[in-house]
Amino acid sequence: MSRVQFSKELVERLNDTEAVTVLTGAGVSAESGVPTFRDPGGIWEKFKPEQLANFEAFMSDPDFVWSWYQHRREIMRDVKPNPGHYALAEMEKYFAVFNLITQNIDNLHHRAGSKKVIELHGNIERNYCIKCRKHFDDIDICRKQVLKCDCGGLIRPDVVWFGEALPYNALKNAEECSRNCGVFFSIGTSAEVYPAASLPLVAKQHYSYVVEINPKRTAHSELMDEVIEGRSGEVLPELLNFIKLNKIEK
Ligand code: OAD
Repeated sequence: MSRVQFSKELVERLNDTEAVTVLTGAGVSAESGVPTFRDPGGIWEKFKPEQLANFEAFMSDPDFVWSWYQHRREIMRDVKPNPGHYALAEMEKYFAVFNLITQNIDNLHHRAGSKKVIELHGNIERNYCIKCRKHFDDIDICRKQVLKCDCGGLIRPDVVWFGEALPYNALKNAEECSRNCGVFFSIGTSAEVYPAASLPLVAKQHYSYVVEINPKRTAHSELMDEVIEGRSGEVLPELLNFIKLNKIEK
């Protein structure tokens, strides 16, 4: 017996559409033990983004910024995907077109088995040299100091910092997927950081049915076609069961 109620309209839309787009934020990884940014006790309550997540801060004290990212890497390597990540990975199978866009850098969607993930803010498991742009995947996680590339350039995490542009192709793909879907889910994001927060609005402008899944209301709740109040680790497995029953029987 499902504890989450899905509306009749969502049921019909999911049955009728072949294209679903999902946008995820830090809340999707909260049940795995990765802290969010803006909830009470969140990352930006304890640390100042301008000291840690921008290029000027990195250039003025690279070891400090690097050690903070190493600390976050260690947290993320110790956690596991939760039922919400696994449900999204399995949902791919039930739609001809299923696009997963994430603001998260923790790699948990990949680790849960999602095959195609559009990473808007980068990935903490990747790094690159700021001078020659060479990529480094396996940086020793015990290192507390920043590393240098053979060319002499500093190696930085491949994440988007404040004031930096999002990866061009990722954003372009994300916008296209948001324009071309029958149902759009915005899950575990406060919808406060643009341009990611514009994607549900793009979807709505293009007549998609837009659904928010979050235990709390957000800046966008009023604009949604449907708000499902709940944790993604609980709601998404129920949504998957619902989709399985309906899509298989079709
Ligand atoms: P936020 O910390 O701003 O928002 C997290 C959202 O997750 C909130 O709306 C919570 O209510 C919700 N939430 C908490 N627990 C949840 C759960 N179990 N299930 C579902 N939702 C839950 O995180 P983001 O919106 O992802 O950017 O933040 C966007 C960007 O701001 C991040 O990617 C990061 C940050 O600065 C960069 O670092 C570039």
